Amino acid sequence: MAPGGLALPINYNVAMTRSAAEIDRMIAGGDVKGKLCIDDLDTPALLLDLDAFEANVAKMIAYVHAKGRAIRPHAKTHKTAEIAQYLIAHGAVGACAAKISEGIALADAGVTGLLITTAVIGKPKIERAIALAQRRPETIFCVDHPQNAQDLNDAAGAAKLNLNVAIDLCVGNRTGIACLAPAVALGETISRLPHLTLHGLQAYAGHASHTVGWEQRRQVSLDAMTPAAETRRMLEAKGIPCPWLSGGSTGTYNIDTDIDGITEMQPGSFICMDLDYNRIGGQTSGEKYTDFQNALFVIATVVSKPRADMAVVDAGFKAFSTDKPYLPQYRDGDSLAYGFAGDEHGRITSATGRSVHVGDRLQFIIPHCDPSVNLYDRIFAVRGQQVEAVYRVTARGKSQ
Ligand SMILES: Cc1ncc(COP(=O)(O)O)c(C=O)c1O
Repeated sequence: MAPGGLALPINYNVAMTRSAAEIDRMIAGGDVKGKLCIDDLDTPALLLDLDAFEANVAKMIAYVHAKGRAIRPHAKTHKTAEIAQYLIAHGAVGACAAKISEGIALADAGVTGLLITTAVIGKPKIERAIALAQRRPETIFCVDHPQNAQDLNDAAGAAKLNLNVAIDLCVGNRTGIACLAPAVALGETISRLPHLTLHGLQAYAGHASHTVGWEQRRQVSLDAMTPAAETRRMLEAKGIPCPWLSGGSTGTYNIDTDIDGITEMQPGSFICMDLDYNRIGGQTSGEKYTDFQNALFVIATVVSKPRADMAVVDAGFKAFSTDKPYLPQYRDGDSLAYGFAGDEHGRITSATGRSVHVGDRLQFIIPHCDPSVNLYDRIFAVRGQQVEAVYRVTARGKSQ
């Protein structure tokens, strides 16, 4: 038995050539390239595998452009200005933001071409929308109710500006106004309001994006999106210009880009993927959806080994989102299994008899990317074992 009563030595596999304070300073200053490796990072930490991320971005943007559509990826996935700016530098027309506060945080950090995908309801939010439009006049705001259109118009008039609005269509089971006649009536209302400009339509079918099986998904998406495209035609037939229809997701990018009338795609998860998307099945890849690679991982440390057949890592409910029935998955195969063991801990077992030691550092694929990112202040952008950059999760907690 080792001194101190430990049955096994602790596996301090961290190089630790620098002090923790020095590492913290490097991270805070972003001065990490060529200087910091994954083993220097305290855990739990969120890692973005840059090789996989860049390949995902290149693939999605090339595909959407080859189909003659624009792409405005949804920033709700990453909430990070540097990632939004990378996407814009590689061909995106801007970034979607789910909420006004998310949009403001991204705009403050220099992101342009924002589409706020949720209606701006209530006086404080409308005031914030006006302030955002004053700084970024190209911002598009979704609206799905005539009174909200009137309120936005009045606020825009008082501020002596013009707001770009998009009608949010209900093509699934979330927000929006019904397609066809109700949406056209709202379009007519908007066209009469002097301080609003109708930019076009937004249609997001979340129920389609996660339908398991590509053929089934294709059918669900066609059923959802065809009335949206028809609404656009109806508005134009009435002489109301409607040059733009944005929609689509990681699961339907290769379905919706074949629908006439959809001009722009707004997928989000493709940049990093998650277990939820891995299971939906691909057009040609069978049960596993392999169009895009898993690029987001949580690294955790084994902090206790109370029994020979069980170890405990320092990542629990506060390190992974828990809204899905799937458990975090060990990155390097199925020799280890993860189970939640509370807020701060996870239980590691092995069906193959593989043993782990206190101090071991293990990486996991996350069940659901968007809410997991929202748990972290930073994303560490890594290539191989090297940390290349540190991204602040700009809009972390911005859910208003
Ligand atoms: C309005 C809207 N558009 C696009 C997306 C992107 O979807 P995904 O992350 O599945 O690509 C989402 C995701 O929830 C969304 O809410």
